[in-house]
Amino acid sequence: MNDSPDPKFLLDPYLDWSAAEGVPVIEDFAVDLHRVETKPWARFGTDGAIIHLAGRGDFVTLFVIDLPPGGASVPMSHLYDEVYFVLSGTGSASIELGDGSQHTFEWGANSLFSPPLNSRYRLFNGSGSEPARLVVCTDFPILLNIFHNEDFLFENPFDFPERAGKADYFAGDGDFIPMTPGRHMWETNFVPDLANFELKVWEQRGAGSSNMKFVLADNVMHAHSSEMPAGSYKKAHWHQPGAHVICMTGFGYSILWYDGDEDYVRHPWHHGVVFAPPDRMFHQHFCTSPVAARYLALSWGSIRYPLMQEKKDLRNNVDKDVKEGGRQINYEDQDPRVHRMFLEELAKNGVESRMGKYFDEAAIVGAAE
Ligand SMILES: [Fe+2]
Repeated sequence: MNDSPDPKFLLDPYLDWSAAEGVPVIEDFAVDLHRVETKPWARFGTDGAIIHLAGRGDFVTLFVIDLPPGGASVPMSHLYDEVYFVLSGTGSASIELGDGSQHTFEWGANSLFSPPLNSRYRLFNGSGSEPARLVVCTDFPILLNIFHNEDFLFENPFDFPERAGKADYFAGDGDFIPMTPGRHMWETNFVPDLANFELKVWEQRGAGSSNMKFVLADNVMHAHSSEMPAGSYKKAHWHQPGAHVICMTGFGYSILWYDGDEDYVRHPWHHGVVFAPPDRMFHQHFCTSPVAARYLALSWGSIRYPLMQEKKDLRNNVDKDVKEGGRQINYEDQDPRVHRMFLEELAKNGVESRMGKYFDEAAIVGAAE
């Protein structure tokens, strides 16, 4: 028997750290990132909050960072990877690499960027009157749980010059790396306007669906963006937890369920709403707005560095039918309630369905009347 008054047992250094940082820790299934309350966060030198979604998994999480008008974050560097997404406002990022070179770029709403691993960077609000809010998805949780030493992660001089990429990756340029539909990659460090970035067709994932995978600062964070045309939806699928889905354009809803469930969990979304489908929970996204709906998904294990066999399987099988050992439910196999619910929602919004080539919609509406 251990008679220590404080036995070290089932520790989670990351959770202890998050509770001690002095900022709000929001735990929920889905969160509207525009409405999150922030408090002063000494580590960033500005206000912030920590977001723990039910489906965040063991590797990554989100921080919300606010920059007041004319404000800036403190210079920082760290041995964890991260992807920033700008929710609102305009500003700049100044990044100093290990060789002393400086790179500065200007961001605005819907910008996406990654400071290279352990580079020294600072964020500035470029407006004297408007606040700016950013969200950052980071693998800090798993790294702190492995090393359980803050100084190792935040005060480490090791340089990774190979992570910087080309100089123009900081200027919003990048390299398109063609693969197959659903696997095309764009390599860069900065995407100025993800809402208007050209995605590539991926019909197999859903009617009119398009997608791009991002390789950012050669890091291990996964980032992709997908779009559904107005009045359309994607096919249902499942995977491991940790995919933080952040809605960017249009509006709609998602349904989630475990195999065998009677009913669906349903969440509406619009710009800035984030949710993370829990482990092996089927999920399906529906665009019910008169304009296309585009979202960003951030997780751990990129298309270049999957890190786990599960992620390799996901990238190879994400659009394969469940009947063939994959993880996607094709339209013809889905619960008839799913399409009916979608048509009802479209009718409320006065938006026409673009799914007519896949369903006999007159029969579905007639059966419901
Ligand atoms: Fe998914």
